[in-house]
Amino acid sequence: MTQTVISVETLREMLDQGQPVTVLDIRPEVERAEWAIPGSIHVDAYDALKAKDPDALAGVELQVDSPVVTVCGAGVTSLVAAELLRAQGFHALSLAGGMKAWSLAWNKAEVPIPDSNATVIQVRRTGKGCLSYLIGSESVAAVVDPSLKAEVYLDLAQHYGWKITNILETHIHADHLSRSRALAERCGATLYLPAQNRTSFPFTSLQDGDEVEIGAARLKVLHTPGHTGESTCYLLDGQALFTGDTLFLTGVGRPDLEAGPDEARTRAQVLHRSLQRLLALPPETLILPGHTSEPIPFDDRAIAAPLAHVRARAELLQAPEETFIELLLARIPPTPPNHHRIVELNQAGLLLEGDPTDLEAGANRCAVG
Ligand SMILES: [Fe+2]
Repeated sequence: MTQTVISVETLREMLDQGQPVTVLDIRPEVERAEWAIPGSIHVDAYDALKAKDPDALAGVELQVDSPVVTVCGAGVTSLVAAELLRAQGFHALSLAGGMKAWSLAWNKAEVPIPDSNATVIQVRRTGKGCLSYLIGSESVAAVVDPSLKAEVYLDLAQHYGWKITNILETHIHADHLSRSRALAERCGATLYLPAQNRTSFPFTSLQDGDEVEIGAARLKVLHTPGHTGESTCYLLDGQALFTGDTLFLTGVGRPDLEAGPDEARTRAQVLHRSLQRLLALPPETLILPGHTSEPIPFDDRAIAAPLAHVRARAELLQAPEETFIELLLARIPPTPPNHHRIVELNQAGLLLEGDPTDLEAGANRCAVG
């Protein structure tokens, strides 16, 4: 039987290995603008395909000698597109589950940190923008903010010869289901969370000034409230800072989720103080954020920048406190879907049975630029 579909994992591997493949996005422009597969090409053919127009893909220029993967929102209309292309002689496959399933696709990049005793791997959910980190030193490793299934981190750790012994969260997330507890149980690792009383499962609590050892490397705990009350950054060997949703490369974290307007204003003020503390770190400190708002290319390039560059690019960081608060509150992006339910599950330490992508749907809207 002719193969008609391709799984997210197979396409992910092809892109990761640089294999020749053309990804053809057939969704309406408005959906593509929200999130897309890096390197994909676009034809706004959705309505024509739905109407079974045989010329729906006329004029699209494709390579005949490499596979074409058609993509839509949920993997149904892309089947029609792939069939049409196969009839024209192309080796065309439809991405099973479409962009919804692509939410779990990931890639990685090694982060160059010259003066650290650790090797850092940035693990990126390219389909959603969540960034997590595997930090290895000697024979052990820690994971910060895991957002993918345990096997991804276990396989990477095995590749580098590390045993995962510590899992850390920067805060209680509202945009994705935390995989920390599941990963910690799977590895027998210690689960560290910033000190707070929101969660209802056992964890080892971290306070400002604490240190966590990873082989010959050290993570220093910096409590940086604002995005949430417990939000915390981790400083690796004085060189690199895992900032969670407190500081991004061109913006700062939103202070409003799970908070009323007065509380959001107070959090914005607290966030300003936390950011001033971070800005006092050496300008070469490498900032490693918890999210990005763009699809992440399969280019092995870490999403990171020295603090001095972040300071120069993020206009909000240069504003005095009152202006910062006004600008921040005025620029808050639309509220992400399902955040109440995600927070509820993350506070309970629960993962959904089966497919988490319905709940996690939607582009990342954590940053205010
Ligand atoms: Fe967050």
